[in-house]
Amino acid sequence: MRISDPKTLAALPALGVELRPGMSLSSLTSLGIGGTTDLLLIRQHQHLPELIRLLREEGIQHRFLGGGTNVLIADGELLWVALQLAPQESDIRIESDCAYVAAVADLGRTVTLCAKSNLGGMEGLIGVPGSVGGALRMNAGAYGTQIGTHVREVDVFRGSQERIETLRGGDIRFDYRHTSFAADDIMLAVKLELPSKPYAEIIQGIRLCNEKRRASQPLNQKSAGCIFKNPPGASAGRMIDELGLKGHRVGEAMVSDRHANFFVNTGQATCGQMRALIEHVRQRVRGAHGVELEEEVIFWAA
Ligand code: EPU
Repeated sequence: MRISDPKTLAALPALGVELRPGMSLSSLTSLGIGGTTDLLLIRQHQHLPELIRLLREEGIQHRFLGGGTNVLIADGELLWVALQLAPQESDIRIESDCAYVAAVADLGRTVTLCAKSNLGGMEGLIGVPGSVGGALRMNAGAYGTQIGTHVREVDVFRGSQERIETLRGGDIRFDYRHTSFAADDIMLAVKLELPSKPYAEIIQGIRLCNEKRRASQPLNQKSAGCIFKNPPGASAGRMIDELGLKGHRVGEAMVSDRHANFFVNTGQATCGQMRALIEHVRQRVRGAHGVELEEEVIFWAA
């Protein structure tokens, strides 16, 4: 969607927003899939309440994009504008055993910077692509680590109340790939409390996780990580693999031949192809196991 109303366009700079008209969101997602819309880059998040109010008053639908690593976006001209936090100069600050991290910060960089201050506990998250904000919203996890474990405070823009609040970690529910944040909440910053560990020990843990990941996941292909959540007590990847679906394609969307729960874009895959592949696999697993796989990747329709 294109913002054309002169009043809205004129209001954006004072709200710390840089307008990037007609962006192809495929360039902002790890899947390399996504249609076209105006991107509003937020440079001063204290103005978010006014910005969201303005968009609502003008009837402009919006969606908030984080690191773009766990989202499948429709093709073509989108009927909503995308909001994204602009990168920040100093996005990570460490004080004794706590890290204060901006939501826009890269998760992997956060893990390594904390390690340099002898703060561990997040080794398992090292290869999870994306921003800290996205990791928080989904309670990202790998190799026995979940980010929620370490959260003490979160600054969040609450969409329903149109205001910025600081939540205590204990007041947020962190479940498997799910949290109690509302769909229209926007993560802004987090305070993590981390266990002290010698740097060498943390680095060893990081190396081990990197090796495991390299051995089992298609890291150099365009994907959104695991497509489905694991059903209780089972592995979606193993079930899909056992059905012989590795390498199965719909157009240029393909079940990875390395890890069957990663669906990769082998070229110019469309959202439609990726969704058809997801449905095909879901149907095959339903037929074979009577299990309904639930998507982990978030789908945004046009
Ligand atoms: N397996 C197969 N074939 C496959 C894939 C896996 O047989 O194609 C088997 C493995 O051999 C293993 C079992 O399935 O015995 C589990 O596989 P893996 O260790 O790769 O873990 P996973 O359950 O498939 C989860 C997370 C990953 C995370 C890894 C490592 C989910 C949906 N996935 O995968 O997270 O990196 O554990 O901790 O919870 C993500 O969230 O996007 C993601 C990739």
